[in-house]
Amino acid sequence: MEKTFLMVKPDGVKRNLIGEIVSRFEKKGYKLVGAKLMQISPELAQEHYGEHKERPFFGELVEFITSGPVFAMVWEGENVISTARFMMGATNPAEATPGTVRGDYAITVGENIIHGSDSPESAEREIGLFFKEEELV
Ligand code: PPS
Repeated sequence: MEKTFLMVKPDGVKRNLIGEIVSRFEKKGYKLVGAKLMQISPELAQEHYGEHKERPFFGELVEFITSGPVFAMVWEGENVISTARFMMGATNPAEATPGTVRGDYAITVGENIIHGSDSPESAEREIGLFFKEEELV
């Protein structure tokens, strides 16, 4: 069964959206198999977003993701990687469809509420970065 890594970013945690976001994926039918509220270190942030390190917003991205607690999750189910990305909406909330997480709750690309793995390879890498085997049920 496919697994993906999803994370409520610091803006979503501050705005008390954890419950709303978890509820959407639960109601869709996916299974939560790991979750924790955590503070990301600068080292973990740089590794997680390593593929973007040459981009002009990299510093901002690391600063933002380490600015407060995040809610890291692993979800399981059929096609969960691509369907979760669809449910999240476009990276730029201005282009996200109403009914998606970003379409309903975000305005700017710098603070877009949720992160989700974009491929099976990144899902495996990101789950491994954030969770130990024994933290998943
Ligand atoms: S994607 O979905 O990976 O194709 O999106 P991408 O445009 O490559 O963006 C990668 C992550 O960087 C964040 N981002 C930004 N942060 C701050 N400022 C600006 N201008 C900006 N543009 C993109 C974007 O939210 C993506 O974060 P994640 O956590 O991967 O969704």
